[in-house]
Amino acid sequence: MLRSVVVARAVRGTGLGQRVVQELERIARIAQVKQLALLTQSARQFFERQGYRVIARQAAPEVLQQTEEFRSLCPVSAICMAKFLAEA
Ligand SMILES: CC(C)(COP(=O)(O)OP(=O)(O)OC[C@H]1O[C@@H](n2cnc3c(N)ncnc32)[C@H](O)[C@@H]1OP(=O)(O)O)[C@@H](O)C(=O)NCCC(=O)NCCS
Repeated sequence: MLRSVVVARAVRGTGLGQRVVQELERIARIAQVKQLALLTQSARQFFERQGYRVIARQAAPEVLQQTEEFRSLCPVSAICMAKFLAEA
């Protein structure tokens, strides 16, 4: 699960967020993670630009559906997005 990507307001829009996501994906590939998923209310387009696609919450891997984020922390209105990672 990709969680809590945040860039300080003063430096948003300068490419930092994209670099954070790219670095997390690099680390995930090394750990042989095949798919990343996230919940967001405000950053759909930001993640779409990086190859994430909206999926039904129920389509997320079962292990993620059992997390606190899916079960109680993130509102039902949050959309679920996922991306399959290419091999390292
Ligand atoms: C979402 C967030 C992490 C993006 O970080 P950032 O450093 O501003 O993003 P970047 O500068 O790397 O932007 C990359 C691209 O996404 C676009 N983008 C960034 N935030 C966007 C948003 N909220 N909606 C639509 N497009 C967005 C940028 O315009 C840029 O497009 P470009 O490549 O065509 O120039 C940042 O806005 C943030 O901290 N938001 C509050 C927390 C949040 O919503 N986190 C996500 C919860 S899962």
